[in-house]
Amino acid sequence: MHHQEPARHTSAAIRPETTPLYMSSVYTFPNLDEVRAYYSDPASAYVYRRNGNPNTAQVEKIISRLEATEDSVLTSSGMAAISAGCFALLHPGDALIATEVLYGGTYAFFEQVLRPWGVEVTYADVNDPASLEAAYGPTTRMIYAETVANPLLQVTDLETVSGFAKAHDCLLMVDNTFATPSLTKPYSYGTDLVVNSLTKYLNGHSDVIGGSVSGSQQVIAKVRKFVETFGGVLSPFDAWMTERGLETFHIRVRQQCENAMQLARALQNHQAVHKVYYPGLDAHETHEVAKRILQGGFGAMVSFDLAGGEPAANAFVASCQHVDFAPSLGGVRTTLSHPALTSHRAFTSEERLRLGITDGVIRMSVGIEPFSEIWEDISQALSRASL
Ligand SMILES: Cc1ncc(COP(=O)(O)O)c(C=O)c1O
Repeated sequence: MHHQEPARHTSAAIRPETTPLYMSSVYTFPNLDEVRAYYSDPASAYVYRRNGNPNTAQVEKIISRLEATEDSVLTSSGMAAISAGCFALLHPGDALIATEVLYGGTYAFFEQVLRPWGVEVTYADVNDPASLEAAYGPTTRMIYAETVANPLLQVTDLETVSGFAKAHDCLLMVDNTFATPSLTKPYSYGTDLVVNSLTKYLNGHSDVIGGSVSGSQQVIAKVRKFVETFGGVLSPFDAWMTERGLETFHIRVRQQCENAMQLARALQNHQAVHKVYYPGLDAHETHEVAKRILQGGFGAMVSFDLAGGEPAANAFVASCQHVDFAPSLGGVRTTLSHPALTSHRAFTSEERLRLGITDGVIRMSVGIEPFSEIWEDISQALSRASL
């Protein structure tokens, strides 16, 4: 019988245009010399999916190019990226200064996991050096910020916070999920760890949960080691889906930003709306910072506070016909969420009110539909919310 190369082994004759999907959990070796060679240079081959996979490696390269960093590591979710960055670089006894307006899941991680683990967490206005100075102490080792904060969209002055971190010998970790590397690259401002939830704009189709940490080779080597050991790696299928989503990343974000700007302007003139939060509006508290830090658009998230509070928010959500209530963001379809009930439920109501997150705040993730379609649905729902 003729010996045939098993189909599972790749052939040079097959040259696909798109990246093949490698689901194998383990890789084979023809002899012990090759096994030994792998362990002396792990970048030379693949051995076990948790330690690396061609699909995740491919997306790591793309994210590194987008974020203009030396390297990146993918994780099983955005939260896994944030927690990996913290666990890999902080130790019990260290202190962390975090921005006071941030994603509720990150706040829950800081308060319910990192603090009990032994890291002291303090909060500051990261755009204000005096506030950072007040939060700083001898054990402060890291500062944590979001480029565009969830949900009221304050833009972080990366020059200020990075200058403070460098002067105080602290690491800086920045969550770039809301801004995306299409609008700003925090590494170019001196950020040590840039984290992204791939779940949102980078994949962009609401069908993947994933995360990434990007930075220098030295920093990422530490985070990668943690991710491989702790085990929260991204599945090859989710990496493959993300690679496909990334093909349209810039064009999606451009269209979403244009729609968001139009929506913010239209909402500003609506009597049912008490206040609009969008960094592209002159009235936004960080508009001047946004003009410096964001290039090519002001983001695709728009939040607004309904004059009628929670009853109006309820009527608005119930009246939307095409815009779904979906507590995530960054997909191609316009969706809405209610931060007080979802992303920011880990905060007490007093904390939320202090931060301006009232029960009337609606957070929109603006999609790529023609703007007229979005506004048609929103405006009819707003008229019901003001009855
Ligand atoms: C700003 C921000 N960062 C991180 C995350 C967490 O990402 P994931 O849901 O992929 O864990 C979210 C989720 O909503 C987010 O809004």
